[in-house]
Amino acid sequence: MPVKPGLVVKHANGHYPIFLESGLCERAGTHIEVLSGAGRLVVISDSNVLKLYGECFLKSCESDPVVLEIAPGETSKSLEQYSRICNRLIDESLGRRTLIVALGGGVIGDLAGFVAATYLRGVRVIQVPTTLLSQVDSSVGGKTAINLPQAKNCIGAFWQPQAVYIDPAVLKTLEPKEYTSGLAEVVKMAVILDEEMFEFLESSTEAVNEQDLPTLERLILRCCQLKAEVVEEDERETSGRRVILNYGHTFGHAIETVFGLGTCPHGHAVAMGMHAAACLARLLDLVDDDFVDRQFRLLSNLNIPARFPPDRHEELWETMQRDKKAAAGQVRFVLPDRIGHVELVDSVDPGLVMQAMQQASAECPV
Ligand SMILES: NC(=O)c1ccc[n+]([C@@H]2O[C@H](COP(=O)([O-])OP(=O)(O)OC[C@H]3O[C@@H](n4cnc5c(N)ncnc54)[C@H](O)[C@@H]3O)[C@@H](O)[C@H]2O)c1
Ligand SMILES: [Zn+2]
Repeated sequence: MPVKPGLVVKHANGHYPIFLESGLCERAGTHIEVLSGAGRLVVISDSNVLKLYGECFLKSCESDPVVLEIAPGETSKSLEQYSRICNRLIDESLGRRTLIVALGGGVIGDLAGFVAATYLRGVRVIQVPTTLLSQVDSSVGGKTAINLPQAKNCIGAFWQPQAVYIDPAVLKTLEPKEYTSGLAEVVKMAVILDEEMFEFLESSTEAVNEQDLPTLERLILRCCQLKAEVVEEDERETSGRRVILNYGHTFGHAIETVFGLGTCPHGHAVAMGMHAAACLARLLDLVDDDFVDRQFRLLSNLNIPARFPPDRHEELWETMQRDKKAAAGQVRFVLPDRIGHVELVDSVDPGLVMQAMQQASAECPV
C-alpha cells in the first residue's frame, strides 16, 4: 500500500499526488477505492493492457468496477470510441460521483481523461499509466484529447487527475520500440532542463537498457518533477513556458505528418527532431560539435534511432510552416544552448533549417 506520494503536483484548483513504486499495480485498486468513496469505479483500458494487467489490478479492488475494453492504438482516440464509452456510462446509470481509472498508455490516458472531463460536465479521473511515455509525460499535466480524422488532438480539455499511480515494473512487457520511444522523452527532459539527469543517463545506459527498476524509478520521478514544475508555471499553455517541452517536436511532428503517423513511434520522430534541432543550434553558434555528438551518442547508446530521414526535406519544411500558419504564427524552434537549457528562436533562415536537416541525416553526426 503506498503511503507516501512520490510527488505532489499543484494546479489552479488544488493538487494531486503521484505514487511511484514498483509492484504498485497489484495494490493500487484498494488505495483508489478509498479515494472513490461511495462513487462507482470505471476502469477504461485497452485489450493488450487488460490481458497483461487487468486481473492483477482488479484483484486489488474489493468492489466490482465497470470495465470498458478499448481496441489498442491511436485510432481509438476517436469520436466513435468517445461516444461508445459515454453511452455505456449512461446505460450503467453512472452518476457524478463516478471515478474513472485510465489504465493504459497515452491513448487510454487521453481518451479516458477526455471522457472524464466531459461526462456529466466532469467526473473524477485517476491515471494509471503503463507505458514509459505515459509515465514520464502524458499522465502529468492534465491535457486530454481525442482526434478527428483530419487533425490529431484537436478536441480536448485540460482536466487534472485526482492522482497518478506509476508502476515501473509493468514496463517489462512493452515492445522494445515503445520503451525506447518513451526513453526519447526522458532524454528530451534532460537536455532541456537537467544536466545532472543527462550525466546520470550517460553513466547508466546499461542499467536503463536492462530496465533496472531503481534506475527507472529515479528517472521517472525526476521527469514527473520536471514536467510538474513546467506545467505548474503554465497550466493552460498561455505563458509560453510549456513550449520548451516541444524540444525536437517541430521537426518530429513534421516527420510524423510527411512519413505518416505510425511509421515510427512518436519518441523516435522526436529523437530525430532533437538531433536536427541540435544541428540547427550549432549552425546558429548556440552549441558546438561536442554538444551534437554527446546528444547523438546518448540517444544511440539507448537504442533510440536519431539519424534524420535523408529525403523529403522540402516537404518537411513546408509542413512545419503550414503547422505554424494554422497557429497564426511563424515557425518557432526550441533550441539548446547547453545541456540542461534551451531557448526559443523565431525567424530562422530557411536555408539554415535545410542545412540542419542535411547535417542531421548524415551518417556521422559531427
Ligand atoms: N496528454 C498529454 O500531455 C500527452 C503527451 C504526450 C503524448 N500524448 C498522447 O499519448 C499517446 C501515445 O501514448 P503511448 O505511446 O503510451 O501509446 P499507447 O497508449 O498506444 O501504447 C502503446 C502500445 O503499448 C501497449 N501497452 C501499454 N502498456 C503496456 C505494457 N505495460 N506492456 C505491454 N504493452 C503495453 C498498448 O496496448 C499499445 O499497443 C498519443 O495519442 C499522444 O497524443 C499525450
Ligand atoms: Zn512528445
